[in-house]
Amino acid sequence: MLPKIATIKSVEKENDIVTTFTLDVKLPAAKPGQFIMAWLPGFEDEKPFSLAGAVPLVISVGARGKFSRALCNLKAGQKIWYRGPYGRGFELPKKGKRILLVGGGYGFAPLRYIAAVAKKKGISATAICGARSKGLLMKPATCKTIFTTDDGSAGMKGNVLVAAEELLKKEKFDMVYTCGPEKMMGAVARLAEKHKTVCQILTERYMKCGIGVCGHCCMGDKIVCWDGPMFYWGELKDNTEFEKVWRDRTGRAVKL
Ligand SMILES: Cc1cc2nc3c(=O)[nH]c(=O)nc-3n(C[C@H](O)[C@H](O)[C@H](O)COP(=O)(O)OP(=O)(O)OC[C@H]3O[C@@H](n4cnc5c(N)ncnc54)[C@H](O)[C@@H]3O)c2cc1C
Ligand code: FES
Repeated sequence: MLPKIATIKSVEKENDIVTTFTLDVKLPAAKPGQFIMAWLPGFEDEKPFSLAGAVPLVISVGARGKFSRALCNLKAGQKIWYRGPYGRGFELPKKGKRILLVGGGYGFAPLRYIAAVAKKKGISATAICGARSKGLLMKPATCKTIFTTDDGSAGMKGNVLVAAEELLKKEKFDMVYTCGPEKMMGAVARLAEKHKTVCQILTERYMKCGIGVCGHCCMGDKIVCWDGPMFYWGELKDNTEFEKVWRDRTGRAVKL
């Protein structure tokens, strides 16, 4: 698929490192958990970004390396090239069910998209949004949102697991969804399993094609861009590459 051009309609600074862009594009067939491959002139590679909304298209970008910093410097009216949406997205339960969303850092953005879809479908969602400190917290979802910070500078002191354990002990949820650092997602999935709740996990690996061709995004026997990026915990719990330090394209160890 050839890239299409989107114009930035609005830019919102979410926190100290994440910027959220609303684009002049509608992707009505997209699902939460899917991603686009984004590109800017002057860069060799495209990079994947999870959908934080699809009608209109929204992405939340954490400034990390050269590409993401260049994206974060863009202003309304400027352009982003994109392909997609791609990948296996989250699966939502039926109307009347209850779901728990547990996100860390910019990983909370695709969960906000789930919360918005859940509201329309009559699914009751509760969200937990965690960060190291106040300046790294994302904006709330359109459902009840509990904030946690490791240093106690905002919301509950502690990590998302403390809040999730408290909720799972008190209430019955039909599904848990998680997105964020891989160690956090593994811990959330084990907690959900302990409380006999199915968990969907949104994974990340270094991607190049985004369509299952190049093999850059393999995680054990899984091709993340094609088989995922959403996986059920049951599909990942025996994958020895999940929750491990992995190497990026240049061979650098990437700590998740
Ligand atoms: C399916 C998917 C969805 C994603 N969604 C988002 C999103 O919604 N918002 C967002 O900000 N980013 C997202 N990412 C990560 C994003 O694609 C880029 O990897 C990130 O923006 C860094 O790119 P860069 O070129 O700026 O930095 P680089 O120069 O490539 O790297 C900067 C630093 O980040 C590390 N790094 C690079 N890629 C990853 C990665 N995938 N995971 C962990 N560490 C990495 C590098 O090793 C290096 O230390 C997603 C990745 C995947 C695979
Ligand atoms: S990025 Fe090429 S196979 Fe996944």
